[in-house]
Amino acid sequence: MASAMSGQSPASAAAVAAAAVLVLTVALVLAGGVEAKSKQKTCDKGWECKGSIYCCNETISDFFQVYQFENLFSKRNSPIAHAVGFWDYHSFIVASSEYQPLGFGTTGGKEMGMKEVAAFLGHVGSKTSCGYGVATGGPLAWGLCYNHEMSPSQSYCSQDYLYPCTPGVDYFGRGALPVYWNYNYGIIGDGMKVDLLNHPEYLEQNATLAFQSAMWRWMNPMKKKQPSAHDVFVGNWKPTKNDTLSKRLPGFGATMNVLYGDQICGQGFVDSMNNIISHFQYYLDLMGVGRQSSGDNLDCAEQEPFNPSYHDAST
Ligand SMILES: *[C@@H]1O[C@H](CO)[C@@H](O)[C@H](O)[C@H]1NC(C)=O
Ligand SMILES: *[C@@H]1O[C@H](CO)[C@@H](O)[C@H](O)[C@H]1NC(C)=O
Ligand SMILES: *[C@@H]1O[C@H](CO)[C@@H](O)[C@H](O)[C@H]1NC(C)=O
Repeated sequence: MASAMSGQSPASAAAVAAAAVLVLTVALVLAGGVEAKSKQKTCDKGWECKGSIYCCNETISDFFQVYQFENLFSKRNSPIAHAVGFWDYHSFIVASSEYQPLGFGTTGGKEMGMKEVAAFLGHVGSKTSCGYGVATGGPLAWGLCYNHEMSPSQSYCSQDYLYPCTPGVDYFGRGALPVYWNYNYGIIGDGMKVDLLNHPEYLEQNATLAFQSAMWRWMNPMKKKQPSAHDVFVGNWKPTKNDTLSKRLPGFGATMNVLYGDQICGQGFVDSMNNIISHFQYYLDLMGVGRQSSGDNLDCAEQEPFNPSYHDAST
């Protein structure tokens, strides 16, 4: 192309380029449906969503804007919050730019996108809440009140060959879905390509990383061949016969199963589970989607855990 154009004026070069595009287009059209089916088109929406089929639909900042974030977390900068000035909308959107091209908030159209953001933030809100009035899901259901565990009772260091503890470093809960234990900081740090094993404090110093660590967990299964919280929520996952027998079905309930297993699920309608559900539904209401769109299989009261009593990122 470059050599064919050499010596031509800019105008005729442009004409050649235009003709080439036309030829290419005609060739693609002639190649027909087979080609179109095997290779879906990708789109660029700037830094926020780039180079994927998921970017062709609305992105998160199209349907979830600053005022909505402020509505959901109106108390986060009040004087008695524990992380005044830390959490902000911009960090949330910057963090999501890594995962929107993979389908976070961008799968299945605008309503599903809004529901997924409410589901993700429902988990986050419940885990970072200061606990006022959360049981009712009322206006005092805080979220983004903490950015680290307030009174760690231990250093969360366990012997691990792959991810040994760094001397002098504590692995108490930090992040938007708090991460605990050296091995979890190790695994998530590897996934994010950030050295969290040596620097777990990054998650309480940088809100983008705090959100990103939570999104990484949302988007990745705990074990190979298992679904992620994202998959079970947006409908990417088809339960096996075993899953059905274990009452694991697609929906919000299974997101709790993926993230928390038997700490939350399979114990009936316990407060810890109800609290996460009420945050999800409260956020659906605030976002204008409405809790009537919570979807089937909202709870995991009777689900057997995907991974019974395993070491997960939240014990
Ligand atoms: C884009 O949105 C439409 C509905 O608005 C949906 O059917 C489709 O699955 C979405 N694309 C992707 C890649 O999720
Ligand atoms: C927070 O982390 C992000 C992602 O690594 C980085 O781009 C940003 O500069 C960091 N912010 C601060 C204030 O260090
Ligand atoms: C299904 O469940 C049974 C009993 O729990 C187990 O032995 C079997 O390995 C499971 N099959 C799969 C494919 O997970």
